[in-house]
Amino acid sequence: MNQTPKRYTVTAALIYANGPIHIGHLAGCYLPSDIYVRHLRSCGEDVLFVSGTDEHGVPITLRARKEGLTPQQVVDKYYDIINRSFKEFGVEFDIYSRTSRKAHHDFSSAFFKTLYDKKVFTEETTEQYFDEEAGQFLADRYIVGTCPNCSNPNAYGDQCEKCGTSLSPDELIAPHSTLSGSKPIKKPTKNWFLPLDQLQPKLQAYIDSHQEWKANVFGQCQSWLKAGLHPRAMTRDLDWGVKVPVEGADGKVLYVWFDAPIGYITASKEWFEDPATRNTLSYGGAPRSASWEDYWKKDDTKLVHFIGKDNIVFHCLIFPAMLMVHGNYILPDNVPANEFLNLESNKISTSRNWAIWLHEYLEEMPGKQDELRYVLTATAPETGDGDFTWADYEARVNNELAAVFSNFVHRTMVLTHKNYAGKVPAATRYTKEDVLVLEEITKFPDRISTAIRNYRFREAQQEMMNLARLGNKYLSDNEPWKNPEPERVKTVLNVSLQICTNLSVLCEPFLPFTSAKLLSMLNISSLSWNQAQNTSNLPEGHQLNEPVMLFAKVDKALLQKQMDKLESIKKVQAAEAEQAQLAAQPAKALEPQKETTTFDDFSKMDIRIGTILAAEKMPKSDKLLKLTVDTGIDQRTVLSGIAKYFTPEEVVGKQVTILVNLAPRKMMGIESNGMILMAENDKGELSFVAPTKDNVNNGSTVK
Ligand code: 2FM
Ligand code: ZN
Repeated sequence: MNQTPKRYTVTAALIYANGPIHIGHLAGCYLPSDIYVRHLRSCGEDVLFVSGTDEHGVPITLRARKEGLTPQQVVDKYYDIINRSFKEFGVEFDIYSRTSRKAHHDFSSAFFKTLYDKKVFTEETTEQYFDEEAGQFLADRYIVGTCPNCSNPNAYGDQCEKCGTSLSPDELIAPHSTLSGSKPIKKPTKNWFLPLDQLQPKLQAYIDSHQEWKANVFGQCQSWLKAGLHPRAMTRDLDWGVKVPVEGADGKVLYVWFDAPIGYITASKEWFEDPATRNTLSYGGAPRSASWEDYWKKDDTKLVHFIGKDNIVFHCLIFPAMLMVHGNYILPDNVPANEFLNLESNKISTSRNWAIWLHEYLEEMPGKQDELRYVLTATAPETGDGDFTWADYEARVNNELAAVFSNFVHRTMVLTHKNYAGKVPAATRYTKEDVLVLEEITKFPDRISTAIRNYRFREAQQEMMNLARLGNKYLSDNEPWKNPEPERVKTVLNVSLQICTNLSVLCEPFLPFTSAKLLSMLNISSLSWNQAQNTSNLPEGHQLNEPVMLFAKVDKALLQKQMDKLESIKKVQAAEAEQAQLAAQPAKALEPQKETTTFDDFSKMDIRIGTILAAEKMPKSDKLLKLTVDTGIDQRTVLSGIAKYFTPEEVVGKQVTILVNLAPRKMMGIESNGMILMAENDKGELSFVAPTKDNVNNGSTVK
């Protein structure tokens, strides 16, 4: 946008209400958007910050089937969990709405009708995949197959989550139904298509005008445009969603990616029209424009969508196309999508439970929200995939938050209380070094602001921490605790307290809970961003409150618990993978039946039941155990090749079946008299063959 914005509309992706949220979600778009908005508000900007849950579409109905609930029960359950997690992590939307609300059904339905009346859609009867067993058309995630772009075998009917390509079921290679696993047939059905192909020139011009977008976002858009856009169905044959508001559309709903982004507009409208839906913000009395339309229809509004990378095509091409054809709406000014966050080097996965769930973290690490916010922003996947590890968490909390930030503030506060009963001392005489420090302090607000406004949140947070470092170093270099000059001590503590005050402003977007504690310790109400350029915000004689420790070192026991939790998930995963591998392996071909033998030949074999009395490993052999077996006839030595599968302790006392009249054989200098009969499974593992009742004595014959 060329002009200075008068107001901002900031959206964070409407996540599917089909499960709780994890650190990947928080790092992906919710923390960045919250930081962005908190900063804008601190600068006195007019911002409307909206989000909510996406409660339609196949992800919801699939979850409902899995949990044995109705779709409505599923979305009710997860809306509450997700909403609470955001609140407790200090992600403060103006409104956290839901697409299942009547307000949204009405509004998205009217939006569709406007496009329909404008004859934007093409109405087409096409052959769509149908699952005969389930009696249902297979849209979106009801159908999976191999991605034609990257060969991912689990691409969905509407998108490959691996490479981000937007797909239609027809493009999948070897598709199958996720409902029954069966191969679907084709059946004709009517749907309404958005002619993205016709809109391509306008979309191309729109994307070309946003060279400033993040490289990952701009690049993905250009590559889709280059491949050529196709008409895309905006309706689905499903029974869960917003009903298609036109004649002849019974049993059809709006495509979830048609109604979901409209949810941003509905949420904005709800905020204005139904005050009961508004969240109470813990900060800032920001100015507001008069109506929701100001935030969506005025050219001097800057619209920014925060999303994860799998949502790029929908926000950069499809939603803008919808807004263009509707008319009257502004287009997104930026879509700062993040890449994905890994956990301990592995992809976060809901289905494999490889995640740190926010509601669990809140329970297991109470009061540590700012720690996680800090670490996730420090490792945010801004330009490539990021990685969260507990070791990094520990290092950042201990070495940065505790050793620098908290240590600096605490030392400053404690010394002021000790020396001046908690009253801000006067700065009477600045040294040259003080002047340089004071000058440096004034630069931080702009530096941090520039980074935030350009969506470089890692850098912004680092800059904020650099201010704490500057303060910590200043305090350590000047050692006011042992300086004999009272005037010098006063000045050093005054400067340090001014830094603490400015930190309370500049850390707020990243560490809102810490900022609140700091404000309370300093006994001031929050200042604006610009005031953090001043170096005399705290007047001489101002009374401070008692200090509290802002951050402590990570509790080793709590950390270990978290690491153990991941280890046990890994074990479960490994066992499941082994099971799956076994299930996928074709059964080992059975040995063909041997040549016919005679009863006389069989009778020549003297097979008895015996008990192993003693066992030991044969020295220098991996395979052999030396067994002493009570055969009922005698006690004898048998060498058996079972050492890979049994320890000596395990076999002692076991009843076994033994061929007693096998010719003796010498192995490794020991004579073996007989052979223990074993059964062998597919993997070549051995088990004993033994009587199934316990009344079979040693020496009993096997016939
Ligand atoms: O990926 C998801 O969870 C989608 N439900 C995001 C939708 S964002 C917007 F369009 F509402
Ligand atoms: Zn792919």
